[in-house]
Amino acid sequence: MIAIKDLTVKYQGKNEETLALDKVNININTGDIYTFIGPSGCGKSTLLYVLSGILKDYTGTVSIDGRDINPKAQRIGLILQNYGLLPWKTVYENTMLGIKIKNDSRVLDEYSSYILKQLGIDALLDRYPKELSGGQQQRVAIARAFILKPDLLLMDEPFSALDAITREEMQELFLNIWKQNSVTTVFITHSVDEALYLGSKIVVFSPSPGRILEVLENPCFKLDNLRFRDEYYAMSTKLRKIVSKG
Ligand SMILES: Nc1ncnc2c1ncn2[C@@H]1O[C@H](COP(=O)(O)OP(=O)(O)OP(=O)(O)O)[C@@H](O)[C@H]1O
Ligand SMILES: [Mg+2]
Repeated sequence: MIAIKDLTVKYQGKNEETLALDKVNININTGDIYTFIGPSGCGKSTLLYVLSGILKDYTGTVSIDGRDINPKAQRIGLILQNYGLLPWKTVYENTMLGIKIKNDSRVLDEYSSYILKQLGIDALLDRYPKELSGGQQQRVAIARAFILKPDLLLMDEPFSALDAITREEMQELFLNIWKQNSVTTVFITHSVDEALYLGSKIVVFSPSPGRILEVLENPCFKLDNLRFRDEYYAMSTKLRKIVSKG
């Protein structure tokens, strides 16, 4: 379990201080998918920086299974909002970043090949990020996080740069991968539909400074063909009301 207690983050600018997160409290159960939804600037990415160990300047406590966050001890798959690719490394090198490669020969195991193919980037392995479209770069970032087989998956609007059809394919792929090992996931999204489709729990943030308004059990999760179910529309209406009330 990830236990977040009174997490408060302030950014110190030149002339002003920004309170990004204000006493955020939540327990994230192992093996669940938490979709986080909230308006732009409410601190969603900031929360992900804290969970990934990138941002250490905060007050309050955050622990994973009773221990401090330590990216070296925990396998954390991270997909940043700006993709976080290294420009001087090829697609292949970027996707294998978390994996220790013994020598320079390109030996892809079955799982890595499957992920690269499913993400449609298996033909782009020798390119550099600047030679890719935004959606392709996003898929490289997704591949890197999945190939790591993480214990904790942190995704910051991972499908935002994709067209609607590719986005739905990626949602299915993510759910298929998740079903294999139920990796604990924090998934940030702007989309109510995506929050409902992917989250077993839905966390609604207030406008800046970010506080948690509600944590909802999602009855739609695990329903077959839920995009067409009555429960889905009822829950969608409820969630839209909470989000807009913000
Ligand atoms: N490095 C920084 N220095 C100063 N202020 C910052 C910094 N990074 C973020 N902020 C501010 O902190 C607040 C939260 O930003 P954050 O990026 O976490 O929001 P977000 O919810 O991810 O927004 P979006 O949905 O647009 O991605 C915003 O008001 C933002 O302007
Ligand atoms: Mg953000």
